Amino acid sequence: MSRATRDTSARRARARRRLTDDCNLNSFHGFGLAEPITRALAEERYDAPTPIQVETIPLVLRRRDVVGIAQTGTGKTAAFALPILDHISANPQPSQAKTCRVLVLSPTRELSAQIAESFRIYGRYLRLHVALAIGGVPIGPQARALARGVEILVATPGRLLDLVGTGAVSLDRAEVLVLDEADRMLDMGFIHDIRRIVAKLPKHRQNLFFSATMPPAIAELAREILRNPARVAVAPSASTAERIEQQIVHLEASAKPTVLAEILRGEAVQRALVFTRTKHGADRVTRALVRSGIGAEAIHGNKSQNQRGRVLAAFRDGRVRVLVATDVAARGIDVDAITHVINYDLPNVPESYVHRIGRTARAGAAGTAISLCSAEELPHLRAIEKLIRMAIPADPRRARPAPAKELRGKAESHQHQHRSRGPTRPHAPRRDAPASARHELAMVPFLQPKHREQSGPSARPPRKQWRRA
Ligand SMILES: Nc1ncnc2c1ncn2[C@@H]1O[C@H](COP(=O)(O)OP(=O)(O)OP(=O)(O)O)[C@@H](O)[C@H]1O
Ligand SMILES: [Mg+2]
Repeated sequence: MSRATRDTSARRARARRRLTDDCNLNSFHGFGLAEPITRALAEERYDAPTPIQVETIPLVLRRRDVVGIAQTGTGKTAAFALPILDHISANPQPSQAKTCRVLVLSPTRELSAQIAESFRIYGRYLRLHVALAIGGVPIGPQARALARGVEILVATPGRLLDLVGTGAVSLDRAEVLVLDEADRMLDMGFIHDIRRIVAKLPKHRQNLFFSATMPPAIAELAREILRNPARVAVAPSASTAERIEQQIVHLEASAKPTVLAEILRGEAVQRALVFTRTKHGADRVTRALVRSGIGAEAIHGNKSQNQRGRVLAAFRDGRVRVLVATDVAARGIDVDAITHVINYDLPNVPESYVHRIGRTARAGAAGTAISLCSAEELPHLRAIEKLIRMAIPADPRRARPAPAKELRGKAESHQHQHRSRGPTRPHAPRRDAPASARHELAMVPFLQPKHREQSGPSARPPRKQWRRA
């Protein structure tokens, strides 16, 4: 090792030690991350780390297992990606054919593609191979990309198991396992695949689990995979993002198409994501919008991967203003400037509400989430309010109560409950957030309101819209 390298390593080690004593970081330099990484961050205009980044980056650098919980849109991806890239940069190894050093799993193809792109962006000044293994597209090119071995492999579980099955990749040299949207990865839909994948990983590895929600039963299950993890929750699990203005519209189910069109015609709606419970529902709503002269596209599991990619790309770059989606787009997807999320149907899994509405108000921006709730959906609303520990205010201007006496009775008594119980200021900073988190939220420029009217020489240009793979 050359003297210069020794000096650099010693300096970085000192910086990291300081960090563990004092987490009041207001710049990425304090972490001691490799220079090529901080250079990329400066170019991305990441001035200061977010609270989850402040808390977890030092732990990941020290090779601890981590469960990281933080609200949607607060930078969990960089919280795991940056220290992983630093580890790769500090410990270079010759490529080993058909292996990966880091395995990142996420529940959807689009999210995995987005995470791979984030690794490429943050790691663009490092010598690095990032591969993507997702279903719905030909497997051959993915197998070829793995032939010489890669540092980072981002995958969805099914396609990964296919690639392992054909011998295109082996997982026995993986040093780090990341489960993004960890609670979803460990629930009934995925746990079987995850167990099979974990069985193929080396016993000694680092495990990093991240999400905005973590139901207790899933946290229990996670403990089987983790090794003495540090649990970091900058806000309690299932806290909704701070700057989302949430509203409920009570109405009869048959009024939903009209009310949705009314909302979307509003001037404030620049880019909207509309969620439905079913794929057919998404198609139906899209057709109705188009018939009423509102341009919209749908994304769901019955569309080809080609169509899904095309529609999401068009939504990202503003060619499509209204995207109608199932929960395939609920988690992790990061599209700039979504001003509105509309729940055409309330989700029957309450955690989905937190993730769906979290597609707006990201990276310090503000946004609005409007949920259309028929009398039949009131039990879902109650479950959601219990989970997020707040009452969602009803919007009386748009309400279309059912004519049937009984239904109207239900809806109104529910609205009345809103007025009479629950936290008094639904949009105020959460009182149950830990004091340190509240303090950090106040201090970190990232989470301060974005001033649209800002102008003149000191105005920052908007952050660059990422282009995804
Ligand atoms: N320190 C930072 N400074 C500025 N922008 C940041 C910073 N960290 C992350 N971002 C931006 O914030 C946005 C949200 O980040 P990210 O997608 O990682 O959020 P998340 O916490 O994973 O949300 P979700 O729970 O929805 O998955 C991204 O556009 C990202 O570029
Ligand atoms: Mg995320």
